[in-house]
Amino acid sequence: MAVDLENLVSQMTLSEKAALCTGASRWTTTPLQHLGIPELLCADGPHGLRRLPDINAVGSASLPATAFPTASCLASSWDVELVDQVAQALAEECIAQHVDMLLGPGVNMKRSPLGGRNFEYFSEDPFLSGEMAVHYINSLQARGIGTSLKHFAANNQEYQRFNISAEIDERTLREIYLPAFERAVKEAQPWSVMCSYNKVNGLLASQHGYLLNDILKQEWGFEGLVVSDWGAVRERVAALRGGLDWEMPGPMPRRVNALVAAVRSGELDEALLNESVRRILRIVFKAHETPKGGDFDVEAHHRLAQKAASEGMVLLKNNGILPLKTPQHIAVIGRAAEQAHFQGRGSSFINPTRVAVPFNELQARAGAAELTYAEGYPTDNSFNQELIDQAVAQAKTADVAILYIALPGFKESEGYDRQDLDLTAQQVALIQAVSQVQPNSVVVLNNGAPVLMGAWLDGVAAVLEAYMMGQAGGAAVADILFGRANPSGKLAETFPLKLEDVPAQGNWPGNLGAVHYGERLYIGYRYYDLKHMPVLFPFGYGLSYTTFAYSSARASASIFKDVDGLTVSVDVTNTGALAGKEIVQVYVHDLAASLDRPYKELKGFAKLELQPGETKTVSIRLNFRAFAFYNPRYRQWITENGQFDILIGASSADIRQTLSVTLQSSVELPCILDRESSLVEWLEDPRGRQVLGGLYDEIEVGLGKYYGGGRIGNYMEMIKNNPLYTVLIRAEKFLSKNADELLAEFLEQVHKLP
Ligand code: GLC
Repeated sequence: MAVDLENLVSQMTLSEKAALCTGASRWTTTPLQHLGIPELLCADGPHGLRRLPDINAVGSASLPATAFPTASCLASSWDVELVDQVAQALAEECIAQHVDMLLGPGVNMKRSPLGGRNFEYFSEDPFLSGEMAVHYINSLQARGIGTSLKHFAANNQEYQRFNISAEIDERTLREIYLPAFERAVKEAQPWSVMCSYNKVNGLLASQHGYLLNDILKQEWGFEGLVVSDWGAVRERVAALRGGLDWEMPGPMPRRVNALVAAVRSGELDEALLNESVRRILRIVFKAHETPKGGDFDVEAHHRLAQKAASEGMVLLKNNGILPLKTPQHIAVIGRAAEQAHFQGRGSSFINPTRVAVPFNELQARAGAAELTYAEGYPTDNSFNQELIDQAVAQAKTADVAILYIALPGFKESEGYDRQDLDLTAQQVALIQAVSQVQPNSVVVLNNGAPVLMGAWLDGVAAVLEAYMMGQAGGAAVADILFGRANPSGKLAETFPLKLEDVPAQGNWPGNLGAVHYGERLYIGYRYYDLKHMPVLFPFGYGLSYTTFAYSSARASASIFKDVDGLTVSVDVTNTGALAGKEIVQVYVHDLAASLDRPYKELKGFAKLELQPGETKTVSIRLNFRAFAFYNPRYRQWITENGQFDILIGASSADIRQTLSVTLQSSVELPCILDRESSLVEWLEDPRGRQVLGGLYDEIEVGLGKYYGGGRIGNYMEMIKNNPLYTVLIRAEKFLSKNADELLAEFLEQVHKLP
């Protein structure tokens, strides 16, 4: 039903409009019955519904809902169709529980594996994160349930998250920290975007006009509403002026009054308030179109959660012990075998409909095998040798030992970052001791982000990264261990060899109110490529129970125009004895650019299932942005003529096929030469070269005499990067005019050229 928003706004009093821009409760908008404006109810996300029975209660248990794998696990599936299915299930649960908008997905970059909230985020790579977000949002919203893309922007750590300033240069912001948001807004139009708590370059995200108005709403065309993170607003009027439409949580009468007073005093243009009201009304009525109630298929969603976990888990090491043959005695070790560790702490904490207990799931698949259990490690960070001794005693006589190792909640959570990448000392000692007596030791990890393994990896037979695997993860682990499922996940983040190798180290977590993103574009694999640094497990890595070969890579053209894009294809063959799924990754390498660029960047991927011996062709489209980089001087994404390599790989460190192509750029760049432009910038700009004309040669000859006698090695090399003005000053003695006259002439001429 079309709603005449303008008419509605015109009927609303100033107080009603201000009230609409402030939460009526912790989770709802302000309804206005006399105008037929309903309330909208939102709830967390992102990997399960956290709907409180009493929307004003804080801390009470939420209604039972399916706990799906968290984002770091889901992203490791690289399966966008799976994300569609999970999002559909989330929508069904929202409808059943009368929730209009789910607060997710979180798409912040994993700048450091120490980030306490990394379990809630997809990746260190903006392309993979963007793909996941687009599918999550489109699938949820296709069923009439809204989403809230979060946290905009640069929530990459928990330390001082309420006010630390993320100091990020424009190019890094555009190429690394915004693209996942940009893709999601442009290709999925989330009903809302949630601002982050932190500052970006000194300004609170909740009142960041450049981010919220200029980029999000104007440049990207965002049509929904901007909601604050809970408690993120400091100054309501500044926030509304900066593009923050809906402050949460409510109720906050004094904030309503502040808006009213600001309009009445003329401090705030009522037109801005009306724009926020329109944005909120549009979403409230959109939400209202979706009938709510009924129930959802608990079992079907549990099975989907299991499938998602199975697809997202990553087999990191396997000496052949997996899949388990028919062990007669299995030593099951670790608390996480009995107390499934399947989600993270904080606002995303779900009350699961049921939990698959890993031990029981193993027992159900182990046939006649005898299973023993040893707790292995305590719930706290204490050291208990007796628990280790018990585990060793059982492992010694078993055929295989399976260690369920969960990174404890006191190590990683929303609200605080990790201080190290270690498991607990007890867990390390446990794995070492067990693997010393039992060569067939398999480690199953439940963690939200990378952990170090150097102290024990060589001694174990296999490692399965199960991440925060969701409520059904225990069954998925058992299926993989017994070969009922062939692992197909690949890492969406790098596992470093040691904390010192992490690019953000040295700029983490910041101090004096700021954290400087000194590594710039070089986070994750971009950094390790730059440094040619070895890692424990690379981005895009994951083992299968079968093997795959790549062949016959080809491109739709060897020379192409940027706006036409390119399609690259490759044949993939299952060369093993088991059916399996492979994730093909396509990276782009720019051989020469006017600015520094990461060696390669992920710009496409596909996941495909292959039967033994089967071959399929994968084709991936690369568009303009696959080749472009952001130039802050031109304030736009640009391409440059030249050669690119298309790297097709099974991981970022396992490139199987390479294609060389040549791009023809269609980008018309404005002339930005100014008084400070260097000699080489004048020469690289065709218009600048035209205006300088033969003067360059005069300068070279003239200065050659001046610097003659070998006193300067290569004087043109010395001066070419200096401002043209300073070169003219030195050359004045043999030029007809002085530097000021010449430069003024050149600038006037060059800006007149087309
Ligand atoms: C939290 C989180 C945000 C969540 C919101 C509501 O502080 O930062 O992700 O959606 O508050 O619980």
